[in-house]
Amino acid sequence: MSFSHVLASGRPLDAIDLDGFRAGMRAWASGVTVLTTGHGDRRAGLTATAMCSLSAEPPRLIACVNQRGPSFTLMRETGHFVVNVLAQEQANIAACFASSKDVDRFAIGVWREGDYRGAPVLEAALCCFECAIAEIVDAVSHGLIIADIKTVHVSDGARPLLYAAGRFSKLEDETIDPRHSFYF
Ligand SMILES: Cc1cc2nc3c(=O)[nH]c(=O)nc-3n(C[C@H](O)[C@H](O)[C@H](O)COP(=O)(O)O)c2cc1C
Repeated sequence: MSFSHVLASGRPLDAIDLDGFRAGMRAWASGVTVLTTGHGDRRAGLTATAMCSLSAEPPRLIACVNQRGPSFTLMRETGHFVVNVLAQEQANIAACFASSKDVDRFAIGVWREGDYRGAPVLEAALCCFECAIAEIVDAVSHGLIIADIKTVHVSDGARPLLYAAGRFSKLEDETIDPRHSFYF
């Protein structure tokens, strides 16, 4: 797939430095995903927290993936991928998919071929979205991937794995104050 748009690569003179960027981003808590693509022996995947909802109608999400890795190359080639949202028991899978490329990342966890295009779906994930790539923006080091969601599988009762301040953790409370519940 070709890029739909290319972001300017220049660094503005008044931009923050790397330490400030890292300190700020470490304050951001998120869920944890493993993005997978390919099928059979030709599959790849990485741990990613840079994933979010884009729109409900049409159903779309965004993922930001480093362009230098094999996962991005294969995602671009196949045009599709799966967002496996990890459950709190799956920190070992998150660590594995962020580790050395020399290990077989799919050696842990139970994987099956997805219904949409056969990309790897993690059986015990909290949720899986199978996606078709709609557009990729060349965002210098990373590709900003806009994807149409084709299928969704949600596990009842599972709880999310979280990532904050450089650590994996789990939810302590369902809701801090029921008056402050928001659904969108
Ligand atoms: C908690 C966590 C979150 C990460 N989030 C992202 C992300 O959103 N995008 C990304 O490109 N890499 C992210 N990474 C780094 C990749 O998982 C890591 O560089 C991986 O080796 C890339 O795999 P690849 O080279 O096979 O593509 C994250 C790593 C960790 C530990």
